[in-house]
Amino acid sequence: MKPSQRKIKLLVVHGPNLQLLGRREVSVYGKSTLKDINTDLVREAAALNVEVDFFQSNHEGELVDKIGTAADAYAGILINPAAYTHTSIAIRDALLGCGLPAVEVHLSNIYQREEFRHKSLTAPACRAQIAGFGRDSYRLGLTGLARIVRQPASPVRKKRRKI
Ligand code: DQA
Repeated sequence: MKPSQRKIKLLVVHGPNLQLLGRREVSVYGKSTLKDINTDLVREAAALNVEVDFFQSNHEGELVDKIGTAADAYAGILINPAAYTHTSIAIRDALLGCGLPAVEVHLSNIYQREEFRHKSLTAPACRAQIAGFGRDSYRLGLTGLARIVRQPASPVRKKRRKI
């Protein structure tokens, strides 16, 4: 079986307050719910021939625990750390420590928003970041993650600098 045909399992991690999507700051995040986003991802995963599991938590430690054990079952992580993006060294360290490739996604373009959102502590622990496509950021991120996982020796990885 070619590596590109192998069924891979990816973990989707949703950070704090994302369970409120659909009714939370609709002008920023849109009307889609987390369930809508997960449904998109299940559909996209089928098209990519990968499997996805979902985890949402409002608690930093739970997110750290989940990321810390992810390598036992998954080949990569798609994560929206939400507000912890801007504050959590613990989640950054967990992403680095788990050894899995991760892609960070945001619904909004965090660089167009308040200054405190311009800095992501977690993005340097990820292979790529996608922000500003609304609900589609997740689908695009999953496509990119599947590609990274299937091509571990890609030039992007070789060029990666130490952080
Ligand atoms: C967010 C952006 C974060 O700044 C914010 O705290 C969120 C959502 C996004 O998806 O656009 O909760 O991660």
